[in-house]
Amino acid sequence: MWETPGKSVFKDQRVLSFDYVPPKLVHRDTQMKKLVMLYKPVVESNMSQNVVLTGSVGTGKTATAKRFCMDMVGYAEKKQKAVDWVLVNCRQRNSESSVVLQIVNHFQPNFPDRGFSITEMLRILRKDLEKRKLHLLVVLDEADMLLKKAGSDIIYKLTRFGEEKLDGRELVSLMLISQKNVYDMLDPASTSTFKRTNIVEFGKYPPEELRDIVAQRTQLALKDDAIDPDSIDLIAEVSSEFGDARFAIEILEKAGMLADEEGAGRITVEHVRAAKAEAYSSVTESKLVGLELHQKLALLGIARAIRGKAYITTGGAESAYKVACEEYGEKPRAHTAFWGLMKDLDMLGVVSAKKSGVGISGKTTVITLLDIPAKVLEDKMRQMLNPGR
Ligand SMILES: Nc1ncnc2c1ncn2[C@@H]1O[C@H](COP(=O)(O)OP(=O)(O)O)[C@@H](O)[C@H]1O
Ligand SMILES: [Mg+2]
Repeated sequence: MWETPGKSVFKDQRVLSFDYVPPKLVHRDTQMKKLVMLYKPVVESNMSQNVVLTGSVGTGKTATAKRFCMDMVGYAEKKQKAVDWVLVNCRQRNSESSVVLQIVNHFQPNFPDRGFSITEMLRILRKDLEKRKLHLLVVLDEADMLLKKAGSDIIYKLTRFGEEKLDGRELVSLMLISQKNVYDMLDPASTSTFKRTNIVEFGKYPPEELRDIVAQRTQLALKDDAIDPDSIDLIAEVSSEFGDARFAIEILEKAGMLADEEGAGRITVEHVRAAKAEAYSSVTESKLVGLELHQKLALLGIARAIRGKAYITTGGAESAYKVACEEYGEKPRAHTAFWGLMKDLDMLGVVSAKKSGVGISGKTTVITLLDIPAKVLEDKMRQMLNPGR
């Protein structure tokens, strides 16, 4: 049962895992160069810098940030400067204290989980940095999760961290990664330290770029000739709908596993098709787990209203949302807040809200479902809204 029936297609399957960071990010030179330009003064002149990275899911933000940080530390070492970095995933740690705790843990792995206030922890962190004469780049990944839950106070504290420094050396720089525009979520005091020009944007990958990303991964992960060139093209094509490299790599891995299961020795287009069918549902699933109550209610309404139709109007979506709210005994959000919900769901890629073209009188915004059948979405939302039932 454990033995692969034929020869495995993989030489190193680990390079297909989500947290693997490739030696070079394909088609991300522009972003990388901008990061180097922005953070160079940190290494060379003991300054601090704050930068925002934005783009939708799977555009390589996290991987680029990690690669950049590792390369920066290498460069700093050559220049005999002490620079270090820590990445906090704010989806997992979305309170001020858990973020600060992880940063403190970077230097003191056994630091107790409780019993210290944020101010105390920050003081301890400052001592650690001063003692080591170290500059720390704090990367807050999925920063919008933290900002939404805890506000921007912690950003403010970290950007002002160096203010009472002894020797003109700055101690902390920040990098905020987010799918959404985080500027609107910062308070005015923090906004002033994040220049609008310090933004690095990550666009969706067109099919040719996805192809190159997949080709790089096949070389690292698969044995020679373990995949048809046609299969690489097909992976790029099926994932280009999302422009999402994560999806592409997930399909590559799944296709490889299916090929191994059959003992085929080589990944063919049929393995890719089968892998896509499986991955499709899991990607959608992962978008849905973090939804808030009113996002779920809006989706439930939309799913019901859109059955059998290509799109519905926002007016139609809003009434369906109100019906869902009533059913679950929730007070519906006001019109503008409802529009905010639509924008969030659009960002997540669950629905798409766009100006209508032909077929509807006048210019109005219409909502359509991207990659999940209405019936499936409705059932899913009902399940998620009735936990335990
Ligand atoms: N330009 C690229 N070159 C190589 N691999 C990439 C590239 N962009 C993304 N990836 C890979 O795709 C997956 C998703 O990327 P990630 O950085 O997590 O995206 P994001 O943080 O924008 O959602 C990761 O496995 C990452 O290594
Ligand atoms: Mg990410």
